[in-house]
Amino acid sequence: MCGIFGVLGSEPAAPRLLDALKRLEYRGYDSAGITTLDESGRLGRRRAAGKLRNLEKALDAEPLSGTTGIGHTRWATHGAPTVNNAHPHIAGRVAVVHNGIIENYRTLRDELMARGVKPESDTDTELVAHLVEAALAAGLSPKEAIGATLGKLQGAYALAILIEGEQDLIAAARAGSPLAIGLGEEGTYLGSDAIALAPFSDRLIYMEEGDWALLSRGGVEIFDEAGEPVERAIVATPVSISMAEKGNYRHFMAKEIHEQPEVLGHTFGHYLDLAQESLRFGAAEGIDFANATRMTIAACGTAYYAGLVARYWFERVAGLPIDIDVASEFRYREAPLTPGQPALFVSQSGETADTLASLRYCRAGGQKIASIVNVASSTIARESDVVLPTLAGPEIGVASTKAFTCQLAVLAALAVHAAHARGRLSEDEVREHVGILAEAPGYVADALRLEAGIERVARDLSHASNALYLGRGTNLPLALEGALKLKEISYIHAEGYAAGELKHGPIALIDEDMPVIVIAPHDAVFEKVASNIQEVAARGGRIILITDERGAEEVGTQSAETIVMPTVPPMIAPIAYAVPLQLLSYHAAVFAGTDVDQPRNLAKSVTVE
Ligand code: F6R
Repeated sequence: MCGIFGVLGSEPAAPRLLDALKRLEYRGYDSAGITTLDESGRLGRRRAAGKLRNLEKALDAEPLSGTTGIGHTRWATHGAPTVNNAHPHIAGRVAVVHNGIIENYRTLRDELMARGVKPESDTDTELVAHLVEAALAAGLSPKEAIGATLGKLQGAYALAILIEGEQDLIAAARAGSPLAIGLGEEGTYLGSDAIALAPFSDRLIYMEEGDWALLSRGGVEIFDEAGEPVERAIVATPVSISMAEKGNYRHFMAKEIHEQPEVLGHTFGHYLDLAQESLRFGAAEGIDFANATRMTIAACGTAYYAGLVARYWFERVAGLPIDIDVASEFRYREAPLTPGQPALFVSQSGETADTLASLRYCRAGGQKIASIVNVASSTIARESDVVLPTLAGPEIGVASTKAFTCQLAVLAALAVHAAHARGRLSEDEVREHVGILAEAPGYVADALRLEAGIERVARDLSHASNALYLGRGTNLPLALEGALKLKEISYIHAEGYAAGELKHGPIALIDEDMPVIVIAPHDAVFEKVASNIQEVAARGGRIILITDERGAEEVGTQSAETIVMPTVPPMIAPIAYAVPLQLLSYHAAVFAGTDVDQPRNLAKSVTVE
């Protein structure tokens, strides 16, 4: 979603703002802009719809001077993605950039218009600029004007504010949308995530919920919701810059797919003690798996599919019934909750609004809250009793890849831990499972070696208008994830189905123009899937089979294309089989010529409901 950057330095601000906004591009945006304060303290602004290169062109044509500035990438919520609606918004002496939504927008707009203000844009953000300007005009100091304005705002937001004539000030506020302050050798910075701040500062302060701050070159003053000065911890920047760069890869998505053996190694290394062949789940001791009667799981998109795979593991291996739903529906079902029972939330960003709202619903119902997140400083992590990090490193490509397989890694290890706690697995069986889980990064590396063949298959797939993905058991969520990956980056319409559901409707779609991707390792349900493959073949469907050697021997003749995976132990097959699905959609998108890392309309971190 939207990204914020601010700088108070000694070098020209505009190039730095552009550089930082490029680092925020991965969050998804449809317009961008920057404002600086020039040497005489005057505000200057450039904005552009579309990609940052348009903003760059505007700056080349009319450069902005000054060493103080704020910048923004906007993902439209209030108002279309036009130049006029792009941030920063300026009212009189005040420039504002904003992430999130001001919920009492209508009331504020009516009040301001009654006082003669004529908003220039359709945004809620512009109203904040008018409120600060009105407070300054009433004689308040910048600090008082910011404090008074924040007291009028309702909703979830992060704000950065510049005031004309105040070259040593950026005001910032956080309520529901993350913001961090970077302390550097040569200035003070503000960013909506650590990735934007990484090249400029090695020390960070994460603002807490309700905090607001006045940044200057010499440091920062932070206030809590009540306006009282507060101290917040300074921590080392967690993000290595290289992890946020493409290296030799053409796209972040390709880099992230190829990083999986390494990051899965880190994740399993965190939860498995290979020397002792045991699990390391100290943090999860807060969850009473032994006495749990059921567990809730809620998440969105790809993270939800990781949860769906885990349902099979928790129910089969640990005998723990799972109630799972997409977070955007879960909270509206008004599901009755049993206090004390565990609820688990899965989120790469840790900021997804629906997942956070479901967490709060379960918190209000007295449940024990656990989360699996990739961003340890995220809101979901901070609101959880137990936090299980995925350690995938920054995921920049909008389509989730390495975060998904790392979520599966944590979930698989957690299911084994739960099974042991519930007396369903003996020490010896735990040891055996630990050995199997530890092999996953190796199988993922083997799957990556199939890339050249998968790329050939993807060339044909990129010409299709529709595709079906079929799977049974844990391969059903993988079919759903494969279809999501294809549609979101190549814009080819794709659906995932339970293979057994085919004849209850979707089989009507099968003809020679319909690619059918079947995920079918030779496992306990293989024979049943083999029958479904025959049903598709009999109707002329073009089958792309992803299986292992034994599966290929038995049904390979029915498929137009067969991708032969290594023979993987069933428990970790979903982790390894995610790889050919990622590669297939990645290469199909490259052939289709789409914007792989920033597909249209999508945002990386979805902080609105
Ligand atoms: C798809 C994708 C999304 C996210 C979803 C949840 O490739 O990335 O479906 O999985 O928006 O995001 P997080 O995991 O940040 O809560």
